[in-house]
Amino acid sequence: MDKKFKRHLITAALPYANGSVHIGHLAGVYVPADIYVRYLRLRGEEVLYICGSDEHGVPITFKAKELGCTPQQIVDKYHAVIKDSFHRFGISFSIYSRTSSKIHAQTAAEFFMNMYKQGKFIEQESEQFYDPVAKVFLADRYIVGTCPKCGNPDAYGDQCEKCGSTLSPDELIEPHSKLSGERPIKKSTKHWFLPLDQYEPWLKEWIIEGHKEWKTNVYGQCKSWLDGGLKPRAVTRDLDWGVPVPVEGGEGKVLYVWFDAPIGYISNTKELLPDSWEQWWKSNDTRLIHFIGKDNIVFHCIVFPAMLKGHAGGYIIPENVPANEFLNLEGDKISTSRNWAIWLEDYLEQFQGQQDVLRYVLCANAPETKDNDFTWKDFQARNNSELVAIYGNFVNRALVLTHKYFDGKVPGYKEEELTDQDKEFINSIPVITKELQENLNHFKFREAIKEAMNLARLGNKYLTDTEPWKIYKTNPDRVAVILNLSLQLCANLAIAFEPFCPFSSKKLQYMLGLAEQNNEVCPTSAPQGKIRWELLGRRDFLQQGDSLNPAELLFAKIEDEAIDAQIQRLADIKKANAAKAKEEGGKSLLPQKEECTIEEFDKMDIRTATVLQAEAVPKTDKLLKLTIDTGIDQRVIVSGIAEYYKPEEMVGKQICILANLKPRKIRGIESKGMILMAKEPNGKMRFVTPQEPLSNGCIIG
Ligand code: MF3
Ligand code: ZN
Repeated sequence: MDKKFKRHLITAALPYANGSVHIGHLAGVYVPADIYVRYLRLRGEEVLYICGSDEHGVPITFKAKELGCTPQQIVDKYHAVIKDSFHRFGISFSIYSRTSSKIHAQTAAEFFMNMYKQGKFIEQESEQFYDPVAKVFLADRYIVGTCPKCGNPDAYGDQCEKCGSTLSPDELIEPHSKLSGERPIKKSTKHWFLPLDQYEPWLKEWIIEGHKEWKTNVYGQCKSWLDGGLKPRAVTRDLDWGVPVPVEGGEGKVLYVWFDAPIGYISNTKELLPDSWEQWWKSNDTRLIHFIGKDNIVFHCIVFPAMLKGHAGGYIIPENVPANEFLNLEGDKISTSRNWAIWLEDYLEQFQGQQDVLRYVLCANAPETKDNDFTWKDFQARNNSELVAIYGNFVNRALVLTHKYFDGKVPGYKEEELTDQDKEFINSIPVITKELQENLNHFKFREAIKEAMNLARLGNKYLTDTEPWKIYKTNPDRVAVILNLSLQLCANLAIAFEPFCPFSSKKLQYMLGLAEQNNEVCPTSAPQGKIRWELLGRRDFLQQGDSLNPAELLFAKIEDEAIDAQIQRLADIKKANAAKAKEEGGKSLLPQKEECTIEEFDKMDIRTATVLQAEAVPKTDKLLKLTIDTGIDQRVIVSGIAEYYKPEEMVGKQICILANLKPRKIRGIESKGMILMAKEPNGKMRFVTPQEPLSNGCIIG
């Protein structure tokens, strides 16, 4: 550990208090941060682990409107739910507070005021959308209308959720306010901007030159932001939920949620340590580390550091920002709106007392360098064949045999009794624990947890190789050696696994007589006694004659039924989502056209044809030139399908055409007829093809 630093200030992204937390949150941020913090505590380092709820922002006001309550009621509810879930998973925050607290409002307002007084903001008038009936400015999300790309009538002003296009409210057809239904007007409003461009040279120097050791995903994202050039960012909003802008002209405005939320790290520290918080935030011997998900990188590596620097109040900036990628669930992106998630409350109910299993699996499979997938089968396999079969099995054998042969008292041995096999075993322990430590130091938690398991694997193999149960009758002294060493390894395991699986570690410490029975798994200070990182790798935890407590299983096998039930639950959700999508697709279908007569229809010559050649029409994005066989002739049709099909995909395909459409020239090419296309609700065009190959020229009617 870097001796330059006296204390470690570890933060975990403040989750939005507008919903529960799921496995993606745990895997991406809170488990890795908790592992790191627990590791530092075991090392006897001075550490704070700061978190809390992020209670501002437009989506919270949105949810409140939807449910007919106040934003405060929303955040009160979810703050409690989230705090409780984290606690029950053993996430050992030093404080978990919230941004709707008074001390936060004060701290954030002061921070803004301070920068304002130093002239660190640009004031700018701009035209924004305004609801003339509700008399409020509208965030992009509050404006809905028809998507110009796919026709979805419920597209938002920033995005169409049906086709995924990024939009601006100006592009929406028939835009209207979510609040009053009225068409928004543009109205001029003043805002304060943080001129990020002015911080660019400093940021480049600090990150690009100074922090090449950051994770490549983080460094890469910073680099591309900085290479792309930074622009001033508005740090205020026209909204009535948030920290009021404390300066003249700021009436009716609040600080932008991404301005106030990271200040939450500071106000929460202040709340915890009213007298000494400055020591944590303003001295160069504090090491500040932000644990976040990848969508937060720009705010933690660029915006917040620029704020801290701009404030010029002696604040430190982060030493590292070990951001993770995303966790998927059974091959699909986790989505709150589609209920595609495993919620912590649900897990706690369905897998009672098995928090460590989820912690273990989420760490072993963490999205550290790329997005990763959680599957229930993998969860079961890792529990049954790693936690149960290796770690749990080894510990259980060592303890049960000691109870059986030595009445639960640690047997002793003399140094000269050690065989080569024992020595090899003893010497392997520090090799593994060094590797474990190295990985923890570098935020490589997946590798680290593998090493912890290797330690247990080593023990398992030792017992299997030495087979003490077979030799007790003839050679009890030999069994004493084996079990003593095995128990020493158990003590090593209790330490090595403490950051990852604190519940079972606690249990193991108690069984070994190294700790009291104590259900507090969220310690906020260094553990006492022999549970110290520096003792790892040694074999003098237990002395001859020390009493062990009764052996209990550390982990329980997870049966197929439990896993099948989870898989079924997800399948049901998928089905429900598909049905909903279908129904919504139905809603956006065009109404039936005006009546026509059979004679009118009969005028259309619709027939089958096959594409012989296809090529893009030069200098266009949309057009393909197709040469087709209609059965009666070969001809050229120019069709606007290049967005949907590549030329090579079309060749050989059987299609349906309107053959007698009046020919017309498109881009200088004579097009004779039209290809029949179906338009999907999401706007995608697909050609219509006979269900089985037909001869070309068959009349359809
Ligand atoms: N609430 C944000 C999110 O969930 C994270 C805020 S982190 C903070 O993406 F630094 F702003 F607090
Ligand atoms: Zn769309």
